[in-house]
Amino acid sequence: MYLRQDLIPQSKIDEIIHAANIEEVVGDYVRLKKRGANLTGLCPFHNEKTPSFSVSPAKGIYKCFGCGKAGNSVNFIMEHDSLGYIEALRSLADRYRIDWPQQENINIDQERALRSEKESLQILNNWAANYFQEQLWESEEGKNIGLSYFEERGFREDIIKKFKLGYSHDSWDHFNQAATQQQFNTDLLLKGGLAKQNDAGKLYDAYRGRVMFVIHNSLGKVIAFAGRQLKKDDKSAKYVNSPETLLYHKSNELYGLFFAKNAIRQNDFVYLVEGYTDVISMHQAGVENVVASSGTSLTENQISLLKRHTDNVTVLYDGDAAGIKASLRGIDMLLEQGMNVKVLLFPDGEDPDSYAKKVGSVQFQEFLQQEARDFILFKVKLLLQDAAHDPLKKAQVTRDIVESISKIPDGIKRMAFIRECAAMLEMNEQLLIVELNKSRKGFLTQKEKEWISAEPKTIPHAEELAQILVDSPRFEQEHYIIKLLLQHGHKPCEGYAHVAAFILHKIDADEVQFEHEIMRLFLNEFKQLTLQNISFDTDTFIQHANPIISSATAGLLVVMHEMSDRWVAKFDIIMDDPNEMFMNDIGSALLYLEKQHLHKLLGQVQQELKEAQENKKEEDLNLNMEVYKLLKEKQQELSKKIGAVVLH
Ligand code: CTP
Ligand code: MN
Repeated sequence: MYLRQDLIPQSKIDEIIHAANIEEVVGDYVRLKKRGANLTGLCPFHNEKTPSFSVSPAKGIYKCFGCGKAGNSVNFIMEHDSLGYIEALRSLADRYRIDWPQQENINIDQERALRSEKESLQILNNWAANYFQEQLWESEEGKNIGLSYFEERGFREDIIKKFKLGYSHDSWDHFNQAATQQQFNTDLLLKGGLAKQNDAGKLYDAYRGRVMFVIHNSLGKVIAFAGRQLKKDDKSAKYVNSPETLLYHKSNELYGLFFAKNAIRQNDFVYLVEGYTDVISMHQAGVENVVASSGTSLTENQISLLKRHTDNVTVLYDGDAAGIKASLRGIDMLLEQGMNVKVLLFPDGEDPDSYAKKVGSVQFQEFLQQEARDFILFKVKLLLQDAAHDPLKKAQVTRDIVESISKIPDGIKRMAFIRECAAMLEMNEQLLIVELNKSRKGFLTQKEKEWISAEPKTIPHAEELAQILVDSPRFEQEHYIIKLLLQHGHKPCEGYAHVAAFILHKIDADEVQFEHEIMRLFLNEFKQLTLQNISFDTDTFIQHANPIISSATAGLLVVMHEMSDRWVAKFDIIMDDPNEMFMNDIGSALLYLEKQHLHKLLGQVQQELKEAQENKKEEDLNLNMEVYKLLKEKQQELSKKIGAVVLH
């Protein structure tokens, strides 16, 4: 919502930002004392007794070393007064007596109205989730019909409670009456999808006589509902799902992610299933790193969501060959985003829910371990079944496989797959490489087009930002490179448009992908500026209209200066780094980034090797041996290069 600044003239934004002196803006709320070139004070965002909040008047930014909050004047007002971007600009315009064009008031009002509607919806959803649970556990109908349904399916009480399962009465207005008594207005009930209206304008319950599933977002907030029918002969939809609301965008959410996050981190992989009940049953069977796509194919946003936690995904399929073939394309998208993909096929007629109940936790977990197979090798086998003796079909299969391989961002893995698949397809490796290069060419220009056209795909909302920054494992190297880009990116560089173009080129050539979501956002921004040939410097990022970028820039550029006298100048702004040797720093930072990348890949492949060995998965074993050899070679080359770089 905050990216509505396109509705306000850039010149107006510039005028406000120019006027909004950080010293004054912060000074309205914090008593600041001079310390060297900077000012310090007690942080207004967390409780402290000794000052760790620092302001740089020269660069117009603040940062707290206690809680990590940082940004420019607009960020400060947003954070301090809990305002949206436009509202904060408006408030600063008032403070500095800058005219705010009349018609723009509407946008402010819209922003505020949307926010309060969102808050109301959240309150309604929280209440409704409790209501449906109460009905399940306490009403006669709920106990007799809803609870006994769950019990028949074998769901344990603790699991029913954990997932906040509920019940909606078989009535036209049981819910609406209760909601109206709570003073929720009709408009809100309709917008939240909990009530519907017939042609005569009469209100009725959206969920009637169904067991209720609650959909949480990744932070654990109740954002939507799904109600499942109870009778086999019911002709209505099996599930009634919430419509899109201000809180719920189906394609941006994954069912179960909130309950899976920790286990995904711990195991460093995630199981992807289709249904709500699959997720719930797997938890009951002791497997918690599982999310559901809710019956539709994955979107890029959902993949980004997963990538915050792991690069490894295992897709679980019901045993139905037609269904699998239909979903192969969707899996290519996972590869494209740099995910390592495995698949696992359940016996005919079984899905994770039914199979877990059938064989019990221990055997179910063993089954998962033993049956997961590398996706591409699985695909080769699956397609070859139909094409073994038909050369035409085989050619098609080959193209299809190479297409999948071409989506893998990592060159080493691509090579290993080519070798292994060539063996399986009984084809010449060189031929596959020629095919591969053809696919890659189209693919790269496609990617470049994306850079130019695109806003970064997922911009985490401010609320989530703090979480991501704390949540994500620290990628020091990525931070460091972004910091170098911010400090030196705009400076001249031989053979390139500027230093940033050089760094971007190197990162692309090494096929290293940034993992930290915010750092990727920065990298994308630098790419767009470079491709569109737009001039920039550090201030472009400090005053960036995306508050996530501006505040992260301040966070990155202000560092604690350990060397200086702690009692006099505790903090330092490293922005105007006079360091003339920065190209050396950049060179070694890039080498170390690649080193880390290789190290990580090696760790993964060793794990895979061990697992393939234990479970006697021959093809996976061969493949990973190949990857291992290639990685080792590359690592040796790199060590030589790093040895040759003078480190300080
Ligand atoms: N789905 C849906 N609407 C439907 C059918 C399915 O939204 N009419 C989504 C639900 O998210 C569901 C998933 O697709 O969980 C998978 O569908 P299905 O396998 O039919 O349902 P299950 O969740 O497995 O339900 P059950 O085990 O109770 O049959
Ligand atoms: Mn099912």
